[in-house]
Amino acid sequence: MKNTTTIDPNSISTAALHQILLTAVAPRPIALASTIDKNGNINLSPFSFFNVFSANPPILIFSPARRGRDNTTKHTYENVKEVNETVINIVNYAMVEQMSLTSTEYDKGVNEFAKAGFTPIPSEKIKPPRVAEAPISFECVVDNIIELGTKGGAGNLIISRVVTIHIKDEYKGVNGKLDTKKLDLVARMGANWYTRANENALFEIPKPTLTKGIGVDKLPLHVINSEILSGNDLGRLGNIAQKPNAISINKWKSEKKIQSILKILDSKIKHKKIHLIAKKQLKNNNLEEALSILFCV
Ligand SMILES: Cc1cc2nc3c(=O)[nH]c(=O)nc-3n(C[C@H](O)[C@H](O)[C@H](O)COP(=O)(O)O)c2cc1C
Repeated sequence: MKNTTTIDPNSISTAALHQILLTAVAPRPIALASTIDKNGNINLSPFSFFNVFSANPPILIFSPARRGRDNTTKHTYENVKEVNETVINIVNYAMVEQMSLTSTEYDKGVNEFAKAGFTPIPSEKIKPPRVAEAPISFECVVDNIIELGTKGGAGNLIISRVVTIHIKDEYKGVNGKLDTKKLDLVARMGANWYTRANENALFEIPKPTLTKGIGVDKLPLHVINSEILSGNDLGRLGNIAQKPNAISINKWKSEKKIQSILKILDSKIKHKKIHLIAKKQLKNNNLEEALSILFCV
């Protein structure tokens, strides 16, 4: 494709590859992982190579990687090999600076709870403590560790099974469920960038699995090729369960404004004008009306 840089990952340095991967695959949630070594020394470090991969069994995976600069391993990885337990604490905006401090490469045996000023609370089922300030903490047993390589930059997947969950009640909504708006979670981007999932950043999309949308391929060709309607507009239209019926199309066809547009001979101009009217309806969340207007042509 024109104006695209195509890269063979084997042709660039690990540092350059790391930079591309971490900037592109973002935002990433942050696991603030508490672990303990066989002598009882506590460790706390953040990892954004992290996600949930299963609900039954409940599995979280994070990856303390081998350091790119000297191929050494991280204390968290060493600890879970000695004691197969971890608490994965979820990070929100109120704790983001202290969380960052825990990523300092302190010597082995240094307790980052103390360094960052976090409060340890004993866990119920496992030895590593949890972070009192975290909105949610998952006590986990490490079922498996998958080492992805032996060179600097290689990840180590810590496959962690949740055995106890702690949720602070202040983050629940009136329905008793965890409330995304209250959580104010943060995520890691490339370089030193973070993002904050506060109210301004949040938006909802109705789940397409509830209804089977007609699909973009069933929209009229002039709509698919529109210069006015965006990819997001097409996605919303394609998510509508059925094509508009004759009654709703005719209702719009009888409108004076639409009638005069339909008389335009130049189809490019005609389509553009119709698309602009439909776009206005989409902006006001009148999805079905927008689709009926588009089917008038
Ligand atoms: C937000 C954030 C996310 C991070 N994610 C990772 C990660 O996914 N994998 C990794 O190896 N290091 C990651 N780091 C760096 C480690 O936290 C850092 O190397 C830490 O000192 C490791 O501590 P440990 O040796 O005590 O386990 C991250 C740092 C920050 C601040």
